[in-house]
Amino acid sequence: MEKNMALRNIVTKEDPVLYKKCRQVTEFNSRLHQLLDDMRETLIKSNGVGLAAPQVGILRRAVLVMETNVPEGEEEYIIELINPEIIEQSGEQTGAEGCLSVPEEYGVVTRPMNVKVRAQDRYGEFFEVEGTGLTARCFSHELDHLEGILFTSKAERMLDPEEL
Ligand code: CO
Repeated sequence: MEKNMALRNIVTKEDPVLYKKCRQVTEFNSRLHQLLDDMRETLIKSNGVGLAAPQVGILRRAVLVMETNVPEGEEEYIIELINPEIIEQSGEQTGAEGCLSVPEEYGVVTRPMNVKVRAQDRYGEFFEVEGTGLTARCFSHELDHLEGILFTSKAERMLDPEEL
């Protein structure tokens, strides 16, 4: 059977949906799976490293994060996080950050260097996952989206295109 996936439109910073707090996911049904499949397709097509449900107009606590810290020769993969919570964080990193909802704009944001998240998978099973470096930055950035927070409000300064 052909898998039905569709690109979803990514809303940008003018859209009020990005500033609202998202609700918990309570039903781990085919509708959720379709959303996650579509978000996956949309993330890959956009060459992003993370995507949160509100970015496709859905105010639910679901995000995708690309794990890019993989051993040489292995494929990067997407982690699906439903109702995620940061349960541990340590260290600090300060660097350039962007967002698919804020195209062409980058800012300097300080994030934890290591983040451990507890979340549910698409079937409702709880799991824990750790990220470091870019993955930790991404966990932190995407979970902010679920609270209606964009990186621009946390940036100590925005970057000129020449600085990138
Ligand atoms: Co973002």
